[in-house]
Amino acid sequence: MKSVNVGLCGLGTVGKGTFNVMQRNLEDISRRAGKPVRITHVGARRDNPECDLTGVKVSRDIFDVVRDPDIHIVVELIGGYDTAKELVLEAIKNGKHVVTANKAMIAVHGNEIFKAAEAKGVVVTYEAAVAGGIPIIKGIREGLVANDIKWLAGIINGTGNFILTEMREKGRMFEDVLKEAQALGYAEADPTFDVEGIDAAHKLTILASIAFGIPLQFDKVYTEGISKITREDVQYAEELGYRIKHLGFTRKTAEGVELRVHPTLIPEKRLIANVNGVLNAVLVEGDAVGPTMYYGPGAGSEQTASSVIADIVDIAREIDNAGNVPHLGYSSETENLPVLPVNEIETAYYLRITVKDEVGQMAKIAQILSNNNINIEAIIQKEPDGEAAVVPLILLTHNVREKLMDQAIVELEALDSVTRPVVRIRVEQLDG
Ligand code: HSE
Repeated sequence: MKSVNVGLCGLGTVGKGTFNVMQRNLEDISRRAGKPVRITHVGARRDNPECDLTGVKVSRDIFDVVRDPDIHIVVELIGGYDTAKELVLEAIKNGKHVVTANKAMIAVHGNEIFKAAEAKGVVVTYEAAVAGGIPIIKGIREGLVANDIKWLAGIINGTGNFILTEMREKGRMFEDVLKEAQALGYAEADPTFDVEGIDAAHKLTILASIAFGIPLQFDKVYTEGISKITREDVQYAEELGYRIKHLGFTRKTAEGVELRVHPTLIPEKRLIANVNGVLNAVLVEGDAVGPTMYYGPGAGSEQTASSVIADIVDIAREIDNAGNVPHLGYSSETENLPVLPVNEIETAYYLRITVKDEVGQMAKIAQILSNNNINIEAIIQKEPDGEAAVVPLILLTHNVREKLMDQAIVELEALDSVTRPVVRIRVEQLDG
């Protein structure tokens, strides 16, 4: 039985986890693969003291790994866009299969990388790129293959979820919680990727492509971060029976695909609204199965390694016949469904309007909403702020097209009595 040699590039958080789990569970992993599977070559700028590299070839130049004729599978765990892409394309050119955890690279360069891999007859797998240890790629690409997927919603950034959870449960400040997430090793090298939704947008790009059979289109994701969410909004949402989550959401409509990442109010009774801390979850609505939810660790060293190794074993099992599962889940060309601009989406809204505490203001606000065909579902008026003589008005609306809401907000902010920009957070019922 031919053994499979794996070349590992990168010994950072996920690289270390992959190396150590592979060594620790070598026997079981090889039995599951049906042949010996070993890491025989590691490429890393420096050793990691937590990895015992005895008996393994080590190169300081990661490109030595992709040029090693004895390597069958290259595992790319260096992250980032450019060098990673160069490394992967060279591995493909040299006839290696590739496993990667690099969501940024796949979201931005995936179309080109998959094309190169298909031309060469090798595969590039990326289970660990989305939601860390949760087998969501396999879940959608294989487990839900019977379904016409209607929409999916994901809490797909652990750092952002940790921050919102701590703000809600402990009333902590945003910056303070972010520092803790960085210390725990969950945050991206550039933490704005987490809090501004870029990391989630990378992952959503991938999920939408495999759900709907469309090309990867990271540049078309509408992305809004959580840095402007206040403790007051978290508290008002709670009073209305909602939780604020940083959600990646994609839906297929008759006009195209909605592709968006933004803070979202979700009814607190939904299971996904109760996914807390650094945990991730993806809720997928299929026409046959209905709603299914996938829950677990979205980051972490050995948690993410669990997905990396699952990909290694998938390839090792069929090393001479790899490629049974198409890269984006569809064997034919991807479909040319347009991605809708955000002003064409339809959703409900939470509005916080700061208004002078004077007679007749509520009527003016209701009139503007009515003129724009916006139906109010609930309204609460908070205590006036004594000194400034203003009151926060909290409104929930029914579904409306975003461009009507944009227009209404312009008109609301033009009222003399509205003293601050209107806060708008989208609301999704996620009830199928
Ligand atoms: N920074 C990411 C997160 C790591 O917080 O979820 C996993 O992709």
